Amino acid sequence: MKDRLITLRYEVYDQPADLDAKDAELLERAVEALQHSYSPYSNFKVAAALLLTNGEIICGSNQENASYPLCLCAERVALSAAAAVHPGVSVDAIAITARSPSQVLKEPISPCGACRQVLVETEAMHQQPMRVILRGAEGKVFVIGSAAALLPLSFDGRYL
Ligand code: THU
Repeated sequence: MKDRLITLRYEVYDQPADLDAKDAELLERAVEALQHSYSPYSNFKVAAALLLTNGEIICGSNQENASYPLCLCAERVALSAAAAVHPGVSVDAIAITARSPSQVLKEPISPCGACRQVLVETEAMHQQPMRVILRGAEGKVFVIGSAAALLPLSFDGRYL
């Protein structure tokens, strides 16, 4: 038996102003995109902003449905929009933020498991890691070097 350890290294910034200017702008665009969240059932607003390698920024927000399982996460809305409008263009970074109706989110929120799987697929498709920038409503910002780091031992197309 061998004991293996997987570690996650990420950067922690005290505030958005401490980020690289491009990353700070991307986070700001995600904050603006919160206003387009359609979340009448959870009242939990999530938004994501993608920086594409052609310089474009594409935003998405969560889109809910009375048939709850049909709710779309912000990350996947943004990724699908980018693929539709800029097919074949890889993603340099994604910024994700959220607002809760019941608390001020002082910690960064992290993408759900399903979104991690889709983020990893996007990285694999373009063979390019994307920076993942996370922030709640206030407080610290986390920057992870790639989506794959958030989903160790992931399932991917190599197994099919
Ligand atoms: N949500 C996202 O948009 N992204 C995530 O990574 C986690 C959850 C949305 C889905 C739903 O509209 C609301 O947050 C509450 O789960």
